[in-house]
Amino acid sequence: MKLLRQYFPKRLSELVALVSLSATVFLFIHTRSLTNRLQEVQRPYESSVGDAVYEFVNEEKPHHSRELNTAPEVYYGKLDANELNNTRKATKDVLFFNRVPKVGSQTTMELLKSLSIKNDFHYHKDRTQKVETIKLTYNEEKWLANLINYFDPPSVYVKHVCYVNFTQFDLPTPIYVNLVRDPVERVISWYYYVRAPWYFVERKRAFPDLPLPNPNWLRKDFETCVRTFDPECRFIPGLKRDGFGDHRRQTMFFCGHGDECTGFNTEIAMKKAKENVEKSYAVVGVLEELNKTLTVLEHYVPRFFKGALDTYWNEVHVFSKINRNIYKPPVAEATKEIVRKNFTREIEFFDFCKQRLHKQYLALNLDKKP
Ligand SMILES: *[C@@H]1O[C@H](CO)[C@@H](O)[C@H](O)[C@H]1NC(C)=O
Ligand SMILES: *[C@@H]1O[C@H](CO)[C@@H](O)[C@H](O)[C@H]1NC(C)=O
Ligand SMILES: *[C@@H]1O[C@H](CO)[C@@H](O)[C@H](O)[C@H]1NC(C)=O
Ligand SMILES: *[C@@H]1O[C@H](CO)[C@@H](O)[C@H](O)[C@H]1NC(C)=O
Repeated sequence: MKLLRQYFPKRLSELVALVSLSATVFLFIHTRSLTNRLQEVQRPYESSVGDAVYEFVNEEKPHHSRELNTAPEVYYGKLDANELNNTRKATKDVLFFNRVPKVGSQTTMELLKSLSIKNDFHYHKDRTQKVETIKLTYNEEKWLANLINYFDPPSVYVKHVCYVNFTQFDLPTPIYVNLVRDPVERVISWYYYVRAPWYFVERKRAFPDLPLPNPNWLRKDFETCVRTFDPECRFIPGLKRDGFGDHRRQTMFFCGHGDECTGFNTEIAMKKAKENVEKSYAVVGVLEELNKTLTVLEHYVPRFFKGALDTYWNEVHVFSKINRNIYKPPVAEATKEIVRKNFTREIEFFDFCKQRLHKQYLALNLDKKP
């Protein structure tokens, strides 16, 4: 109840808001410890419910950033690491990782947990919900911004949620980081993830009143789904669908909570997402380029990521079960091509993030140092 003592509200509505905020913060902390205990009880299922698929490592493409000179290089001119460094802009030593689903975030979380011990910072994560809401109302966004501000620095907070604008609530700005992935691969990954047996068994255990899925839905493969114009695999430009279950819009996580962010593959959501990445994000890693991502994180956000590359390869990668989705069959290139045609802006955004990461990497001049 420290919050209450800090500032004395003048109006009743502010008092009510504050009381409910403090109550929710308390509840949050309470449920978090409950969740932790629940997880201990649940051992063989080591990670949190309905969330655990490690598919980080196996899908990494076999090119290393330092070997990029085999490909024709785009020349970016003289790159200034300082200019590409948004960590400087943060006004509080809190790292906010608004993770995108199916982009290796389980593994990143394992990494952050290991690093929190080595680099001495607090690690916080929201609990798994029955229905994850990534697009918040103004008040919910405000509440979340206050919650994140409540953590003592240095802290990390991890949650599936769209970009939060702290400035609009006059709160200090954290260090934003995130990861992206090829948007079509991501949609396919989600498609088979929700059909994997462990996914609904774990969810059923956590939320017993959830209905079992329909066997025909489980049997349906991605190719058939696309080729039969099944609504689940139709990617209509501009289509708005709220909620967590709709995984076609990676840009939404970077665009924000406004209505202009929700249309599928729209110019406006893409532009705003790019703008936020450029202005606010310290690093947006690329799943397909893990080593480059870890190297850039180490150099641009050293307070939290010092030693990340070694920790990943020597600890997280070695000890975590690599829980690849063995129920994910290969999808024909031709089918991916059909889908790709409708993901133009999503792909443009992904390419933009890749390019930015590459620039940040080049600006470090690592190859030139002895
Ligand atoms: C990434 O770095 C690790 C550790 O330095 C190395 O063992 C591995 O081969 C690298 N992977 C790629 C794809 O370059
Ligand atoms: C965040 O909010 C501030 C203040 O309302 C506004 O000026 C700014 O444009 C917003 N930023 C984004 C990225 O929406
Ligand atoms: C792609 O979008 C067009 C409309 O622009 C639509 O007719 C087509 O069915 C969509 N394709 C997929 C695979 O959803
Ligand atoms: C980026 O800024 C942070 C915070 O000021 C600093 O610790 C880090 O060394 C900088 N990295 C680069 C590559 O400039």
